[in-house]
Amino acid sequence: MITLGVIGTGQFAAYFIAALRRGGYNGKALLSPRNADIASTLARNHDCVVAASAEQVLAGADVVLVSVRPEYAEGALADLRWERRHTVLSAMAGIRLDDLRALLPDVGGIHLLMAGSYIEIAPGPIALYPPAPGLMSLLSFAGDVVALPNETAFNAAMVSLCASTWIYNLAHALAAELERHGLEPDVARALTLGNIAGPASFALGVPERSLLDISAGIATEQTFTKTGLDHLKARHFDDPWKEAFLISLQVLRPSRHLPRPDLII
Ligand SMILES: NC(=O)c1ccc[n+]([C@@H]2O[C@H](COP(=O)([O-])OP(=O)(O)OC[C@H]3O[C@@H](n4cnc5c(N)ncnc54)[C@H](OP(=O)(O)O)[C@@H]3O)[C@@H](O)[C@H]2O)c1
Repeated sequence: MITLGVIGTGQFAAYFIAALRRGGYNGKALLSPRNADIASTLARNHDCVVAASAEQVLAGADVVLVSVRPEYAEGALADLRWERRHTVLSAMAGIRLDDLRALLPDVGGIHLLMAGSYIEIAPGPIALYPPAPGLMSLLSFAGDVVALPNETAFNAAMVSLCASTWIYNLAHALAAELERHGLEPDVARALTLGNIAGPASFALGVPERSLLDISAGIATEQTFTKTGLDHLKARHFDDPWKEAFLISLQVLRPSRHLPRPDLII
């Protein structure tokens, strides 16, 4: 079993390790000690070991998740004793692969990794670039690994993760509408979220059918569903979503420089 080292024991590391454990990973997880609160919580709840230093993390693990905020990357990583045996998994949104290779010239491999906080509770996609067959035995515990063919595609996958958060706001608006029509908040929430999760599970189960085909098969002529859908289409409901996608992609677009320090995913 692969031992996972972690440098940057914060929110991302916490939910990623929780997801690995949820999926059955029982290997050793060796944490950098900074942020004692999260490190000790992970040690207590998820059977992790808090190392004495980041240097000790590198000494004890070949695969190292790096999840500091981008603006701290250089300070956190540059002076450590990296070796060819190390493979780095970077969760640092917006730091491009070339910049990481320049920062860590001695490591054997570097991969960009992205996953949403919900994987702590429910399986979801783990975006990865470049593909890493040797790491599948580790990463598959956390979710369904989606290996992207290039960095541009990886960045688009990151915006898809942003969209998974936008959906909470859509769900809130729909649930609020139910409440306005007299439903109790918990009932409104359960109906709304169930009616998002259900179609997502269904569509994942029939990959051969296009999403529009599934919709058209339900929203047939003279249905209430089609009446509402026609209105949404007439109002170009997808325009602001596409715009938000492009705006986010522009901010994330790989640059030779570190991303805006005030923005993290
Ligand atoms: N949170 C998310 O939902 C999410 C989602 C996708 C990607 N990410 C990515 O994950 C990365 C971390 O985000 P986060 O939300 O987990 O941030 P975070 O909660 O602030 O965690 C970052 C951790 O790194 C620690 N750290 C800072 N400098 C360090 C150093 N020199 N050596 C060792 N550890 C150091 C911080 O310790 P201190 O608190 O003591 O400074 C903190 O515990 C970011 O690059 C972000 O793009 C996060």
